[in-house]
Amino acid sequence: MVDFTLSDEQLALRELAHDFAEKEIRPVAWQYDRDGTFPEAIIEKAWAVGLMNTHIPELYGGVGAGYLDGAILEEELSWGCSGIQTSVGCNGLAVTPLLVAGSEELKREYLGRLVQAPLLASFCLTEPDAGSDVAAMKTRAVRKGDRWVISGSKCFITNGSYANFYTVYAKTDPDAGHRGISCFVVPRDAGVIVDGHEDKMGQRASNTATITFPDVEIPLDHLIGEENAGFKIAMMTLDRTRPGVAAMATGIARAAFEFAVSYARERVTFGVPIAMHQAIQFMIADMATDIEASRLLTWKSAVLLDQGKRNTLLSSHAKRFAADAAMRVATDAVQVYGGYGFIKDYPVEKLMRDAKIMQLYEGTAQIQRIVIAREVLDPARG
Ligand code: CAA
Repeated sequence: MVDFTLSDEQLALRELAHDFAEKEIRPVAWQYDRDGTFPEAIIEKAWAVGLMNTHIPELYGGVGAGYLDGAILEEELSWGCSGIQTSVGCNGLAVTPLLVAGSEELKREYLGRLVQAPLLASFCLTEPDAGSDVAAMKTRAVRKGDRWVISGSKCFITNGSYANFYTVYAKTDPDAGHRGISCFVVPRDAGVIVDGHEDKMGQRASNTATITFPDVEIPLDHLIGEENAGFKIAMMTLDRTRPGVAAMATGIARAAFEFAVSYARERVTFGVPIAMHQAIQFMIADMATDIEASRLLTWKSAVLLDQGKRNTLLSSHAKRFAADAAMRVATDAVQVYGGYGFIKDYPVEKLMRDAKIMQLYEGTAQIQRIVIAREVLDPARG
């Protein structure tokens, strides 16, 4: 049976998240975008009301929410501001390697930190010469006595300037390609260096930093999972987090759509509201369909995870479709506003800038198509 009815708990979560987005995020979102302010106060409030770290299981002090629950929450907060949601939600990406493969001790220590205080963590995969091509990374981890020594640098790290700890991928067998990568948890106070954050086109309320590991030493037990199993841990992590990006893209699209509809009802040309013109109606209709389809793919990719099934194909379908749709919808929202859409005093140009990152982070639109093509052509993979 397929039933799209949300449970009472999910409806309550959606209401809580929407209320938070409306009261705490929306009123400051455009100001934060202009100033590039990191939303520390909002993160603390989101943590206090239980809108952060929702995937942490009850065993480790969290609420153990499912992936569909997460998607519902992420769409609402992103409707408020996707830059702020990226800051609020990034812990989910950072700790998924621990949830997938971490030891009990690591989970208790590091998931516990996030439950006990409004701390942040970051996921360190990307390098200047290893973005889409993960296996090309150069960061090294070498065993020295009872320590791992990590050396190298990671870029485009969300929340990097503010993180308490990092999940970090490094080569442990440099000649073994993707089979020579391992995953570690690195506390910031082990000697991590944070370099200034990027001045971005969109999602300007989120922090994006360069993180350097200058021979940082960590205990041997800070290896996550098996040695040289890091590439698969990274892929399994992204399978689990791309539905969240798809949900965020749906939230941006919904915000842009609502602004466009309301403007189309008010703005008069040729003697009638522009909503009466078929040219505008067709754009509004396409936007509405894109949003519905984005949400359906997002929910399906999340439900597969909640059912304990491999969701690689659906995760990429959802991420690629919803990201492309958000870009289309936000661009058309600017079109509906006409020249005013291009002006910063109006809300939609921010949404168009924010939408662009949906096609870039957590795997570009092209990487998603590579994954989809491989899964379709070789369904026995995985
Ligand atoms: N689950 C489990 N295993 C998987 C897998 C999955 N989803 N996908 C691949 N694998 C396995 C394969 O089966 C294969 O296994 P074997 O070693 O047994 O052969 C192995 O992993 C290698 O797979 P591929 O041959 O497909 O690897 P590839 O080098 O061709 O790369 C790729 C595949 C899909 C392009 C991958 O590199 C990729 O996803 N790149 C994009 C990376 C990305 O999304 N980066 C975003 C960073 S995070 C971020 O943006 C957040 C932020 O903070 C800004």
